[in-house]
Amino acid sequence: MYCDSMVALPRLLFGLLLFRGLRIYAVPLAPVNSEHLSGIGRFWHVSDLHLDPTYHVTADPTKVCSSSKGFPASNPGIFGDFMCDSPYQTILSAFQHMKTVTPQPEFMIWTGDSPPHVPIGELSTDLVIQVMRNMTQTIRQHFPDMPVYPALGNHDYWPQDQLPTSTNEIYQSAAKLWALWLKPEALETLREGGFYSQLVQPKLRLVSLNTVLYYSPNKVTVNMSDPAGQFQWLRDTLETSAQSMEKVIVIAHVPVGYLPYARNTTAIREVYNERLVKIFRDYSDIISGHYYGHTHRDSIMILKDVLGKPVTSMFVSPAVTPIKSVTQQYSNNPAFRMYHFDTQDYRMLDIWQYYLNLTEANQEKRADWQLEYVMTEAFGLEDIQPCSLFKLAQSFEMEQSKAFQKYFQHYMVSYDDHVVCDEACKLTQVCSLLSLDSVSYTKCIEVP
Ligand SMILES: *[C@@H]1O[C@H](CO)[C@@H](O)[C@H](O)[C@H]1NC(C)=O
Ligand SMILES: *[C@@H]1O[C@H](CO)[C@@H](O)[C@H](O)[C@H]1NC(C)=O
Ligand SMILES: *[C@@H]1O[C@H](CO)[C@@H](O)[C@H](O)[C@H]1NC(C)=O
Ligand SMILES: *[C@@H]1O[C@H](CO)[C@@H](O)[C@H](O)[C@H]1NC(C)=O
Ligand SMILES: [Zn+2]
Ligand SMILES: [Zn+2]
Repeated sequence: MYCDSMVALPRLLFGLLLFRGLRIYAVPLAPVNSEHLSGIGRFWHVSDLHLDPTYHVTADPTKVCSSSKGFPASNPGIFGDFMCDSPYQTILSAFQHMKTVTPQPEFMIWTGDSPPHVPIGELSTDLVIQVMRNMTQTIRQHFPDMPVYPALGNHDYWPQDQLPTSTNEIYQSAAKLWALWLKPEALETLREGGFYSQLVQPKLRLVSLNTVLYYSPNKVTVNMSDPAGQFQWLRDTLETSAQSMEKVIVIAHVPVGYLPYARNTTAIREVYNERLVKIFRDYSDIISGHYYGHTHRDSIMILKDVLGKPVTSMFVSPAVTPIKSVTQQYSNNPAFRMYHFDTQDYRMLDIWQYYLNLTEANQEKRADWQLEYVMTEAFGLEDIQPCSLFKLAQSFEMEQSKAFQKYFQHYMVSYDDHVVCDEACKLTQVCSLLSLDSVSYTKCIEVP
């Protein structure tokens, strides 16, 4: 209803001027599905590398990796196992493959979680810093000239999840490691609270949030109204951007909104979720997209304003690590992705999702990274803007929706096409796509 008129109009006209503040944009009217003449910008997104330095193939399946926590590996090979975090070999193969893709993106976002999932006693502050340094150097070695914008994950701390609200050894180490990519003023807030913003292109600002401050298991921030002053800082930063006519991309590790696999559960505490959603709504006209990690699965969300109009697209990137816990029914193949955007107005155009078929890679003893899908082609979309994704999510609601079945295969990074998402599973998925605040989520989930 909100979307149809908006897409129909530009196609009828030959040239359309949009007035925004004092600036006038001429909108080039390229034929549908053709590449935009204005130029395509690109950036990489990698997330949840989770290096397990103990990974090695050996006769005793319980000894393959610390990250299986004593459970037997399922089918270990040189590129990993679905019960384990990433062998270094797999991470290397990912960056090696990224290097061969042309044309190369202008920058990379990296949404956190470098250390392995192991018991607290097997890590320490020093070990966490060592792994973060190793991953930083590995990325730098492969992409010496590419700016990289990281966000801290809940595993990028010791003990895990307990990221503090003021400066500490790990924020300081991160600032040292990432000084090659970030400007002094970004490093200053990174050292203090684990977040920062930086102008990445002439009118494009990146905001890297420390959403682990809001993460439910973080005991340090219980009852705090504004941990590390990040809410105030975020509002101030977005306000300044709006006044400077900038567009903003928001990156963070733990996503806002509801989890796609657990009914009525937000990843961050509910009270923080409501506040964050409100800020994102207030500034939706300057935010061109949100990019998260943490769930290890491939999903989208569409932020709607209070009237129900889709206003911002949000993307959760699947992980490089293939790990699943022993109780989980399925996992994800190792993955990374590239986004396309319009260089004139920073509209989001497409996702190119790459993956490694882990089973095959182990069989062939060769890491043959492939394109898994191109978002617009897979679903017949014009772009990945809020209205396009909103219509897609609505189409999922139909019974036996083929589009949803495809989306769910992508959700697991083509792990196993025998795994099905039943009605209850699908309702949880679809409501998490479309409803980010508790009022709209409750309404969504209660409709039979
Ligand atoms: C990173 O760790 C791996 C596995 O432990 C090791 O082989 C590699 O040499 C390290 N690389 C760097 C740059 O520290
Ligand atoms: C948080 O607030 C609740 C309710 O006021 C209180 O019972 C609880 O002890 C507080 N927790 C902490 C860690 O301060
Ligand atoms: C969802 O969770 C909230 C808070 O945890 C609770 O108040 C509410 O009743 C739950 N709603 C449903 C539909 O289960
Ligand atoms: C991955 O490889 C295995 C083994 O060759 C194969 O059975 C499976 O179909 C492949 N998966 C995909 C999505 O291609
Ligand atoms: Zn993770
Ligand atoms: Zn995480």
